[in-house]
Amino acid sequence: MINQRNNFINLSRIRQEFKHVISEDEMKNIESLVRMYQRYQAGANEIGTKLSNLDDDFRLTYDYAPIHSIEARMKSPESLMGKINRKKLPINVESIQNNIFDVAGIRVVTSYIDDAYSVADLLKQQSDITVIKEKDYIKNPKNNGYRSLHVIFSVPVFQTDGVYDIPVEVQFRTIGMDFWASLEHELVYKNNLDPKVKKQYQADLEVYAEELSNMDTKMREIFKDLYPQN
Ligand code: GTP
Ligand code: MG
Repeated sequence: MINQRNNFINLSRIRQEFKHVISEDEMKNIESLVRMYQRYQAGANEIGTKLSNLDDDFRLTYDYAPIHSIEARMKSPESLMGKINRKKLPINVESIQNNIFDVAGIRVVTSYIDDAYSVADLLKQQSDITVIKEKDYIKNPKNNGYRSLHVIFSVPVFQTDGVYDIPVEVQFRTIGMDFWASLEHELVYKNNLDPKVKKQYQADLEVYAEELSNMDTKMREIFKDLYPQN
């Protein structure tokens, strides 16, 4: 635990310091974007806490931890702007809130497929959050082989000026699926690669996705045999 003593971002200080270089209107826009990011961060924190509480209770109850790891990320301003432009959306907080659901993202990595579904189901059952959208790329893998369960949750965030319903994208996947998605993601962004080689790697990855999926199932069977209660 590190206690941060200085450099804390504070809107009134920013307003004060930059009033001669940034117009009042521009400042208002910046403020509303900063506040928006803050709300998404709070939404991710809420879901993150729920997940870690579920994991703790699983350990207590079943002596078993379904979650291997949790990663949280905020969409960077560059990537947010890129998506706004691709979707040809107006640049304001409302249009972001109504159209872009992955400003706050959490990835839940489990050892086994069942655990991905169990954790997702336990979150879905919680009375203060709702499911906005769901895509099951485990049951219906993408053509390239991508597998993961994507659920967009809406979570209430209580701020100083009221309550906001904030969307948070949660991706549930196994270690195997995560391993695959990381490499595939690297490949997508490699633009200096011979197109023929890239195509071959994509074809290879499609096969590996299938192999990893078989392995996920078979390893789960062994685990079930060792620990029938899980
Ligand atoms: P976008 O976020 O604009 O792609 O909207 P969408 O509604 O099509 O989202 P989708 O649920 O299909 O994917 C959201 C996220 O899942 C992406 O931002 C990636 O993190 C991940 N994802 C989806 N497809 C792939 C894929 O083929 N490969 C990898 N590595 N990740 C993927
Ligand atoms: Mg996305």
